Amino acid sequence: MSSHRPFTRSDSTAAGGDGNLRSPEPLFPFAEEVEIVGHIIDSLILPKVLDEIITLGGRFQIDDVQIGNRRNDPSYARLQVSAETPELLDQILNEIGQHGAVPVNQVDCRVVEADIDGAFPEGFYATTNQDTEIRLDGTWIPVAKQEMDCGIVVDVEAATAECVAMSDVRRGQMIVVGRAGTRVHPLERDTSSHGAFGFMASAVSSEKPKGVTVREIAGAMRRARDGQGKILVVAGPAVVHTGSREYLSHLIRHGYVNVLFAGNALATHDIEQSFFGTSLGISMQHGGGTDEGHEHHLRSINRIRRLGSISNAVRQGVLTSGIMYECVQNHVPFLLAGSIRDDGPLPDVITDTIEAQRKMRDMIEGVTFCLMIATTLHSIAVGNLLPARVKVVCADINPATVTKLTDRGSFQTIGLVTDVEPFLRILVQELNPPPAT
Ligand SMILES: NC(=O)c1ccc[n+]([C@@H]2O[C@H](COP(=O)([O-])OP(=O)(O)OC[C@H]3O[C@@H](n4cnc5c(N)ncnc54)[C@H](O)[C@@H]3O)[C@@H](O)[C@H]2O)c1
Repeated sequence: MSSHRPFTRSDSTAAGGDGNLRSPEPLFPFAEEVEIVGHIIDSLILPKVLDEIITLGGRFQIDDVQIGNRRNDPSYARLQVSAETPELLDQILNEIGQHGAVPVNQVDCRVVEADIDGAFPEGFYATTNQDTEIRLDGTWIPVAKQEMDCGIVVDVEAATAECVAMSDVRRGQMIVVGRAGTRVHPLERDTSSHGAFGFMASAVSSEKPKGVTVREIAGAMRRARDGQGKILVVAGPAVVHTGSREYLSHLIRHGYVNVLFAGNALATHDIEQSFFGTSLGISMQHGGGTDEGHEHHLRSINRIRRLGSISNAVRQGVLTSGIMYECVQNHVPFLLAGSIRDDGPLPDVITDTIEAQRKMRDMIEGVTFCLMIATTLHSIAVGNLLPARVKVVCADINPATVTKLTDRGSFQTIGLVTDVEPFLRILVQELNPPPAT
């Protein structure tokens, strides 16, 4: 961080008229003064804001910049943002608002009563996954249950606010409308971490040193297990197909999984392996096909359906090994969300997707670390629910899975392009180093 004294408008003029901080062109007729505070330099927030203004066709003039002297000091910038039309100005303010730029002249947020169940009033404020505040009676209050693509419901008397999904809006609730009186605190660079977790948007690459990243993931999981957080694992059936279920079972047994989200397939093939020693009919011993192996997963689902639930199967001694068994034995809550391609499904699968989302929202309370392994569908679904402050690691053999996650707003994701088997094997080794000889 620079140790220069605060940079002011007079400095930039004195430094040569159209200095670097000044837009060389005059402002457009519609303008608003905004300010940004925080780690806006080293987290690259200020450059993003300026770039956003220019890209959208606006202009800016920086009136004041004060750069913090030490690593933890916040910086400050005040600038005029202008556009040719009020509509464009509004659009620009909306976009840069997502990076924490708020108008200097603040007003309270506007709330409108929801007139029907299951839909917001027109013009509702659409949330991001970044920590947000709203201004009520001149006081900024935090928005709870931060989640992207929701609205904000306000309890005016209690002066509280929280995100609410469209399907959960109830007539009579007070909903924030418009952008005024809202502010976002963009995720800043984690200065306590030097490696992968120190940068917010991690480029997806198959050429990163994986050993180092896996060590960092192991460190984050160890810290979470030892009392500083809660770990959510989201997993797809490739965990079982690749012969890696013992690694995930090990993580569950040793307290590295506090919540498990998956679909019908992971649980089905895990149970199939316990009952038949196969995954989708392929022997886990010799890697070849087995007689009538293609029916094994159906017979597995059927057996569990006859018993009513996975936990009943464990309690009755029918299911005695595997990922789902370890969840039941170690009291790790799991949620299996349904999809259109499910066989059966297992009786534990929640086939109403809105209901599944609601339960997932409840279960992610307090989650600080999320490991997504080999599932595009469930990774993106869960990415949509998590606040940006939750550290996310997505391990998948296809770089497009991680790219999709970041494109949809889960930009805090660290992507590891890898086969799940070596990834989980090394992760387990990192978490349980052999005793020194
Ligand atoms: N028989 C069934 O009931 C059945 C079967 C399959 C899927 N499903 C359901 O369909 C939905 C979508 O399934 P999904 O999440 O598996 O599909 P998906 O296509 O969303 O994700 C599969 C992911 O696994 C990755 N992958 C494959 N092999 C890998 C490996 N060796 N290492 C690392 N990554 C690997 C792929 O790149 C992909 O991103 C789920 O709800 C699932 O339960 C049901």
